Amino acid sequence: MFESLKEQPADKILALMAAYREDPRETKIDLGVGVYKDAEGKTPVMRAIKAAEQKVWETQDSKSYVGLAGDAAFSDAMISLVLGDAVARDTIAAAATPGGTGACRQAFELIRMARPGGRVFVSDPTWPNHLSILKFLNMEIVPYRYFDGETRAVNFDGMMADLADVTSDDVVLLHGCCHNPTGANLNLTQWQAVVDLLNDKGAVPMIDIAYQGFGDGLEEDAQGVRLVASSVPECLIAASCSKNFGVYRERTGLLMAIATDSSRRKLNQDTLNFLNRQNYSFPPDHGARIVTEVLTDATLRADWQAELEEVRLSMLGLREQLAAELQRLSGSDRFGFLAQHRGMFSRLGASPEQVETLRRDFGIYMVGDSRLNIAGLNKTSVPILADAIVKAGI
Ligand code: LMR
Repeated sequence: MFESLKEQPADKILALMAAYREDPRETKIDLGVGVYKDAEGKTPVMRAIKAAEQKVWETQDSKSYVGLAGDAAFSDAMISLVLGDAVARDTIAAAATPGGTGACRQAFELIRMARPGGRVFVSDPTWPNHLSILKFLNMEIVPYRYFDGETRAVNFDGMMADLADVTSDDVVLLHGCCHNPTGANLNLTQWQAVVDLLNDKGAVPMIDIAYQGFGDGLEEDAQGVRLVASSVPECLIAASCSKNFGVYRERTGLLMAIATDSSRRKLNQDTLNFLNRQNYSFPPDHGARIVTEVLTDATLRADWQAELEEVRLSMLGLREQLAAELQRLSGSDRFGFLAQHRGMFSRLGASPEQVETLRRDFGIYMVGDSRLNIAGLNKTSVPILADAIVKAGI
């Protein structure tokens, strides 16, 4: 049997992680995978997470199963975090999933069940794993223009022109904030125009929100999602806790399905439970439990928010430092977009050859499409990167 297996294409982001690890140069800089690193290059366990883990360790008296949708307290806490009170709670079905990827995977499977042969419109570019999972599930992908390679801002006219083709059988995948890989985001006026178009065409939005709190702030980053969720009849939302709670390896996420009215919620909830059962039965609980502790305990929550804000501001500071350093070295404003982008990533706009030069000659690792992880930088490495970018002729 095994001889029939075919090599699968390597995931570009994960392959880059491996290549970086094997590089013996001490001066190497990792701007690849989307993991937050502090000034010392460490990915710390957040203070509130550590405290919540201790609390759970002290009080948890069973490891028995929880439920197919996970703990309802986790769903409630996450729904409040992402949606505030924008949507009536009794219209929302939700299930815990292994990370944001798990939530995306379950959402895609739900779409395939509900709309066999339906298409999923995805931004060009998008997170490569969106495409990989959709292809694996044999679903039809339709890219829509999103990024303007010249201005490095959202190509909103292109996006709207391409989305004009959607029908009521289609799903439109949107990034809630901190677009991965570009760092270029919709403003609220643009979100409203997307909502109007979706309502006009009857297409269903699916929003992937993996970086809430990394862009303009916890509430600000949720504004687009809340606007969509409160304005369309149906919506899917895949939320990740990996980055904003720093619980990457605990695999903690939530899939929400918002129905037109509360009478339809039960079918959605049953479907989410069914999908969990088919794929892995009960979702992992540990990460969800500590996130719930953090969100529901006022002291832990305040400390988490304060630390998240430190993380956000440090990334913003690095963006500004990099843009200023490049301005100084290149004598041009063409890198100003780095300070405008939000979240962990920016697409630099370098060619694959230039990205390769950065890796080979300077030991600087970024994804081949020139996505760089801002959080992989620190005050010392910013001038080194800026110098290399200019020397590589970018
Ligand atoms: C990334 O885009 O680097 C992260 O979301 C990590 C991953 O799983 O790819």
